[in-house]
Formats: sequence, C-alpha cells, structure tokens
Amino acid sequence: MASYFLLLGVLIATCSSIVLASDPSPLQDFCVADSKGPALVHGPESSLFSFLHGSILVNGFGCKDPKLVQANDFSFSGLHLPGNTSNPVGSKVTPVTVTQTPGLNTFGISMVRLDFAPWGVNPPHTHPRATEILTVLEGSLEVGFVTSNPNNSLITKTLEKGDVFVFPESLVHFQRNTGNSASVAVAALSSQNPGVITVANAVFGSNPDIANDLLAKAFQVDTSIINNIQSKF
Ligand SMILES: *[C@@H]1O[C@H](CO)[C@@H](O)[C@H](O)[C@H]1NC(C)=O
Ligand SMILES: *[C@@H]1O[C@H](CO)[C@@H](O)[C@H](O)[C@H]1NC(C)=O
Repeated sequence: MASYFLLLGVLIATCSSIVLASDPSPLQDFCVADSKGPALVHGPESSLFSFLHGSILVNGFGCKDPKLVQANDFSFSGLHLPGNTSNPVGSKVTPVTVTQTPGLNTFGISMVRLDFAPWGVNPPHTHPRATEILTVLEGSLEVGFVTSNPNNSLITKTLEKGDVFVFPESLVHFQRNTGNSASVAVAALSSQNPGVITVANAVFGSNPDIANDLLAKAFQVDTSIINNIQSKF
C-alpha cells in the first residue's frame, strides 16, 4: 500500500512538472483584449473585488464579448511602411503586440518591424516576458546578447539578408546596422505583451533619477559622469 502511494506521488510529481513546462493552452478559441473592460488586477484583494463584481480574470487583459468580436480585432495594417529613423539612435521599432492587435491576447505571440538608418542602433534592452526570433529583410545587422552573471559572455554575429538569430528571453540584447544603406528586419516574440526595458533609459533615465552617488559607485566613475549621462535622458 505504501509503495502504491509512493508510485502515485511520483506520477503526480511527473505530470505536474510536464504541465509546468509550458504555458497552459487557451480554454477558448480567443480572448480579444477588451480595452474598455476591467483593468488588469493583481493580488488577492483585487481578485476578490473582481470576483464579487463578476469580471473575468485572466493573466492579461479581460475578454471582449465574443459576439462583438470583428476581423479587425485580429488584424494590423501598415507593416510594409518604413519606420521613421530620424532620432538620436537611428532606429525605429514598429510593434504589433496586444496593444495594437487586441486579438493577440492570451496567445503568447507578437511581432515587430525594425528599421535602421545607416549605422543606426537598437540600444541594449531586454524583453522581460519573451524570447525573440529575428530575420533580416534588407541590409545587414550586427546583433548580440549577453549571458547572465557571472560570465556575461557576449554572443554576437553579423547577419545578412535572410539570416535568422534568436535572442533568449530576458537577456540584454542589441542590433546595429553595419551598412551604408537602410536595413530592415522583422521579429517574432513569444508573448502578446513582451515588454521592453531599455537598459540606459531604465538606469539613467528613471523618474525620479536613481541617486547619482549610488550609480557612481555601481559604475565605478565620478558623479559628474553620472550627471552628464542622466542629463541625456
Ligand atoms: C521623422 O521624425 C522627425 C523627428 O521627429 C520629424 O522631424 C520628421 O518630420 C519625421 N518624418 C516623417 C516622414 O514623418
Ligand atoms: C563561465 O565561466 C567559468 C569560469 O571561467 C567557466 O568555468 C564556465 O564554463 C563558464 N560557463 C559558461 C556557461 O560559459
């Protein structure tokens, strides 16, 4: 009898780990994000509040009434148009996430178009919720990511038209056009809401500023250098 329960325990543990190894499958055909619906809520009190008030809780946006769903909820137009790269970094990302296309809600997928002026940079950033797979449509791109502590190994490569590269979830990564003509890429991300944390903006452009003497110690430089960088954001 004891060995029966042991076996049962092992089976349950095995099944649980299989279930936890991937996102749960959607339990409906779709859940088009309802921008006018209840705000995203977190925590036991707000869950209780939402429960008492009859709103639908999902890990993301609430669902629009399926009877009101239209084809446009699943659609985006304009990804053939070049993004405006006239900015200090010389690149532009055009996102197609749940914000632009509410039908993406709960599907764990989205895409972006990336435009680069000659020598334009998509600065080091991370997507806290997504792995990214990118392909170059025009020109060439130097791409790379840095592994986590303690090694912080830089994995980098120059891509030509048609080449594909994958940026692992959450790792700091970047792209740079290494050519004298514009370059274009498209990428897919494994979240409908991948999020972006641009390292420089988060560290030097927070609101309010992180204390300059704290950053001076972190970066092992004088506070005047920190003040100078903070003034750019
Ligand atoms: C591109 O952006 C720059 C800077 O914001 C702006 O001056 C320019 O008019 C924009 N170009 C187009 C075609 O929208
Ligand atoms: C990280 O660096 C250590 C020390 O140099 C090395 O032994 C280890 O293999 C490295 N790990 C990876 C994943 O590169």
